[in-house]
Amino acid sequence: MKKLCAAALMAAIAAPAAAEEIKIGYALAEDSHYGVAAKAFEESLTAALGDQFTFRHFPSSGLGGEREVVEGVQLGTIQMTIVSTGTLSNFVPESGVFDVPFLFDSLDHARKVLDGEIGQEMLAKFDDAGMHALAWGEQGFRHITNNRGPIAAPEDTEGLKIRTMENPVHITAFEALGAAPTPMAWPEVIGALQQGAIDGQENPLSVIVSAKLSEVQTYLTLDGHVYSPAVILISPQLWGGLDDEQKAAFETATKDAVTAMRAYVDEVETSGVATLKEQGMEVNELTAEQKAAFRDALADPYKQYEEQFGKELMDRIRASQ
Ligand code: PAF
Repeated sequence: MKKLCAAALMAAIAAPAAAEEIKIGYALAEDSHYGVAAKAFEESLTAALGDQFTFRHFPSSGLGGEREVVEGVQLGTIQMTIVSTGTLSNFVPESGVFDVPFLFDSLDHARKVLDGEIGQEMLAKFDDAGMHALAWGEQGFRHITNNRGPIAAPEDTEGLKIRTMENPVHITAFEALGAAPTPMAWPEVIGALQQGAIDGQENPLSVIVSAKLSEVQTYLTLDGHVYSPAVILISPQLWGGLDDEQKAAFETATKDAVTAMRAYVDEVETSGVATLKEQGMEVNELTAEQKAAFRDALADPYKQYEEQFGKELMDRIRASQ
């Protein structure tokens, strides 16, 4: 009997610890910028830590809209996500500053701010909101697509039923332009476009291409009205339970994920317009003068944004070139 107990004890000691499962949810397909980033994360972490963690990917809003997924990360029922800032200002209001239209001049400018002091200070605020933010990723600059006609001036958006993210900064801007913004969770958007319940939507080329919006939208206006960051979030339960070696591996995997995401965005910014034209979309790009007219039409919202986020912070962001 004694021998049997000792054998059982030895077997238990020798058995490898069960791998911990990481459920990672995101709104877009596996071949999108989110999907390639999630895959890069998994590969990097597995290379560093072997089979300590296994991954289950839930692409294409498989775990619900971005708001539900963020809530799941807070609760610890979902371990990781890559999300846009669409719904994040409902959790970390200060992060809404990055949603201010025409704040960033280029991808390089945005990356410098997000990777620098301002971006890192903002990431730290997510801990107080019940989640841990590993890094900023990105989607690119958002553009308008619609089925009504080309857009060259603010007046062309008059009454346009445009789906926006559930993001107050974006909603205010489209209201000021005279459009009819319709905030809606992403999983409902394609159906609403197909049924004609809305005329258009706005998203970066990374989304317009990977979500195949050319199948439901005719006109694409390259207006780049706002830069769209993404953020890689991890549940506090998972993050808090990691030892130092594991945390270091998660941080390296995050860097690899961001590199993959930005490489995807760089590629689609170069090739995306040609792809969408081939698929039948009619594309117009705003000139610098036309863009300035949109910026001027946002004079009132800018006052509101400065009050909300602080003029000093907005000026610091503009100056970080
Ligand atoms: O438009 C949105 O809601 C977001 O950009 C999307 C497509 C869900 C990606 O995060």
